[in-house]
Amino acid sequence: MTQERWGSEMSALLQPRLEADGPDSDGETAVDSFVPPLPRVSIQAFCETSETHAAFTEAAADRRASRAHITVQVGGLAAAQEFYSDAATPNVVVVESSASPKSLLSDLERFSEICDPGTRVVVVGHTNDVTLYRELIHRGVSEYLVAPLTAMSALRTLSDLFASPDAEPLGRSIAFVGAKGGVGSSTVAHNVAWAVAQQLHNDAVIADLDLAFGTAGLDFNQDPPQGMAEAVYSRERLDEVYLERLMTKCTDRLSLMAAPATLDKDYDLEGDAVEPVIDLIRKSVPVLVLDVPHLWTNWARRTLLGADDVVITAAPDLANLRNAKNLVDLLRQGRPHDRPPILVLNQIGVPKKPEIGAKEFAAALELEVTAEISFEPQLFATAANNGQMIAEMQASAGAVEGFRTVAEVVSGRAEARRTKRSSLAPLFERFLRLKG
Ligand SMILES: Nc1ncnc2c1ncn2[C@@H]1O[C@H](COP(=O)(O)OP(=O)(O)O)[C@@H](O)[C@H]1O
Ligand SMILES: [Mg+2]
Repeated sequence: MTQERWGSEMSALLQPRLEADGPDSDGETAVDSFVPPLPRVSIQAFCETSETHAAFTEAAADRRASRAHITVQVGGLAAAQEFYSDAATPNVVVVESSASPKSLLSDLERFSEICDPGTRVVVVGHTNDVTLYRELIHRGVSEYLVAPLTAMSALRTLSDLFASPDAEPLGRSIAFVGAKGGVGSSTVAHNVAWAVAQQLHNDAVIADLDLAFGTAGLDFNQDPPQGMAEAVYSRERLDEVYLERLMTKCTDRLSLMAAPATLDKDYDLEGDAVEPVIDLIRKSVPVLVLDVPHLWTNWARRTLLGADDVVITAAPDLANLRNAKNLVDLLRQGRPHDRPPILVLNQIGVPKKPEIGAKEFAAALELEVTAEISFEPQLFATAANNGQMIAEMQASAGAVEGFRTVAEVVSGRAEARRTKRSSLAPLFERFLRLKG
């Protein structure tokens, strides 16, 4: 490519951004009012220069970032590499590097090995070079910005990652369903959502789809006046601002679309009533937990088939096994390109009750059991009565580990952890050889 063409392509590429970014440009106020607010995401920026640090710090304090969790650190790409070698990467990582294009590319290659799938990487560099820009995008970097940048250009870039028309959808939807009523599917759903938010630091929303009898509000000690029913029954009004008003905050990172749990209405939902609500919530949060009641209607079937993951909770008896088998078969057939459902065995060890062993249960379904949770009526009933999660009641309870495991699997953290371990394997082997 000739220098000339290079230059013009480059300016075409960077022009809109540069124009809008000029800190003193008159156009800035007008353009900036169109930057959509950031969704509920975790963003960590590792800056090398104090200017970039200041820009992201200022961006984090902007009203458009009020739903997001942004931390700004020093040390650039090298610090990020160190930091995430044994920690999960958040939804977005911003890394600054003043290295030459060649070393930047090789540093990023190393970094990509420890980056969890689903994490978007933004690079702040010091080389204004369109070839480098293309190479980075080609390798999966979401955006390349040339320093120095303003707070607004940082914000606009972060916002575009999620709001631009060709942005990948943000959220994963995970449908939780019981093989029978009362087996603890909602309890599992709520505790897993809590683990995603509080232990894995990923924002989550619970949508309670059991409009007549849902217990999510009770379980989190919340009694919101509005929630899921308004969303489902006012589709013509549905947009992100309205949806936001229907949500209740349970913790800093966990929100709830509660069910009305009143019987003044018949809830005969149309087959396509729930889908648009789910699609809209998924745009604003990384993890959407769908608490699906134990029933078989058109909308319930579609919700299970359409989810990114399905978690089936079953108690270890014959009726549960039969129902779980039917569900698993249907889901395998209807979702041939998705992984099979995730199985949780709950209420294990009810006194004097014969039960089917976990191994047999798993073999019959040709599925691994992801979590086995024992029957602990005192603990679970007290938690439910107090409006608390099991981990808040008793952090050492076996169930807490089970909920966390499911949380890691559904949010993609379990695979990430495995790959990170395997990249350390050679080192481990050497260590063992030395010891031996
Ligand atoms: N492992 C457990 N040990 C004891 N009680 C449990 C356990 N899991 C759930 N429960 C209790 O079982 C009841 C039904 O749970 P719920 O989550 O509403 O079931 P589902 O949503 O499948 O109908 C609740 O009272 C809950 O506290
Ligand atoms: Mg339920």
